[in-house]
Amino acid sequence: MNVRVRILAAACAASAVLAAAPGHAQTASGGKGGRVEKSSFGTTRDGLAVDQYTLTNANGVTAKIITHGALLTELHVPDRAGQMADVVLGFKTLDRYEGDHPYFGATIGRVANRIAKGRFRLGGQEYTLATNNGPNHLHGGIKGFDKRVWKAQPASVGGVPAVRFTYTSADMEEGYPGMVTATVTYTLTHANELRLEYTATTDKPTIVNLTNHSYFNLAGDGQGTILDHELTIMADRYTPVDDTLIPTGEIATVRGTVMDFNRATAIGSRIDEVPGPAPGGYDHNYVLSHGGGVLAMSASVRDPKSGRLMEVLTSEPGVQLYTGNFLDGTITGKAGVAYQKHAGLCLETQHYPDSINRPHFPPVVLQPGRTFKSTTVYRFSAR
Ligand code: BGC
Repeated sequence: MNVRVRILAAACAASAVLAAAPGHAQTASGGKGGRVEKSSFGTTRDGLAVDQYTLTNANGVTAKIITHGALLTELHVPDRAGQMADVVLGFKTLDRYEGDHPYFGATIGRVANRIAKGRFRLGGQEYTLATNNGPNHLHGGIKGFDKRVWKAQPASVGGVPAVRFTYTSADMEEGYPGMVTATVTYTLTHANELRLEYTATTDKPTIVNLTNHSYFNLAGDGQGTILDHELTIMADRYTPVDDTLIPTGEIATVRGTVMDFNRATAIGSRIDEVPGPAPGGYDHNYVLSHGGGVLAMSASVRDPKSGRLMEVLTSEPGVQLYTGNFLDGTITGKAGVAYQKHAGLCLETQHYPDSINRPHFPPVVLQPGRTFKSTTVYRFSAR
C-alpha cells in the first residue's frame, strides 16, 4: 500500500486541507481535536484509485473508511480498561473487498435488503432487477453501491473529524429507474459516536433504502462468536419471512417469542429456536417502536467480557438483525482468523425488506425534488 498520507483536517480547523506532494507525508498539529488522514488503499481491477480515510477523535478512537463501497474497514474502540480493539469484521486489502464477500462494512444501495423475485411496479411500469439471492434481489444487485468507488471529501466541522462520500448512480443502473446521487457522511464525535448520515436525490421516481452492513464483534475482530453478546432491540413487532427470507406481509408481535429483545438477552440463549430456513439464526427485520422519522435509541449490544457497549440510534423505521448465519469458516479476515458462523452481527438500520411490494410498509419511493435523509449513530462506551 502507498504510504503517502495526507492529514486532511485537524484540531479545530473546519475541513482544513493540507495537500502533500507525492512521496511526502504531512502532519498538522492535533491539539485536543480530531483529525482526518487520507492514504491510498490500492487500485481496483478496473484501474480506479481507492483511498482510505482514517478518522481519529480526541480519545484516540479511530474509524477507517475506504472509497470502495464507502465501506468501514476498521473501528477501534476501548474496553472498560481502556484497551482498544477493532470491533468490525473485514479485510486488510482491496482485492479481498473486490472479491466475493458478504458485504463486510459496506454502504448498501440503491435498495438494501430483498425485493421479492426482483420485481416491482412504479408509475404504472414494471421493473425487473437481478435475482442475485435465490429467487430474490438482494442489496442493490450484482454491482450495488457496495462495489462502486465513491468520491470523498473531508467534512470535519469544529474539530470533529468527518468525511463525506458521494456516488452518482446512472438511470437504469442495476435495473433501477432514475439517476440517483447518494451521499454518506461518516463523523466520529468526541463522545465516541460514529455517525452515518445519508442523503439521496433523483431525477425520476425511483426507490431508495440505504444502510451500512458492518459486522460487529465487540470482543474484537477474530475473537470468536457474538453468541454471548447481550442484545436489546426496542421493538414490539417484527416482519416474519418465508423460506426465501421475504416478508410474508404479516407484522407480528415479538412478545412471548424468541424474537423478543426488549430486555437485554444473550444472543445465543435462544438462537437454536429461531424459526426459519437453514443455516439458522436471526435474519429478521424489527419494526422499531419509535416508528422512525426522528433519530432515536433503537438497539444496544454489550460484550460482557470486555464491557464494550454499542448503542444504536436511528431515524429509520426498521433494523435487520443478522447474526452472521452464512459465515462458515471459508473466509479469513484481517486478524488471520477464519470467520465461523456467528463471528459477527449486523444491525442494518433500514426501511423494511420488500417494501415496494408491500403498500402497508413504510414507503421507499423517492420523487424528484425530494431528498431522502437518514441518520444512524453507533455510540460506544464500556462498563
Ligand atoms: C441478509 C442476509 C445475508 C447477508 C449477507 C443480510 O443483510 O439479511 O440474509 O446473508 O446480508 O449477504
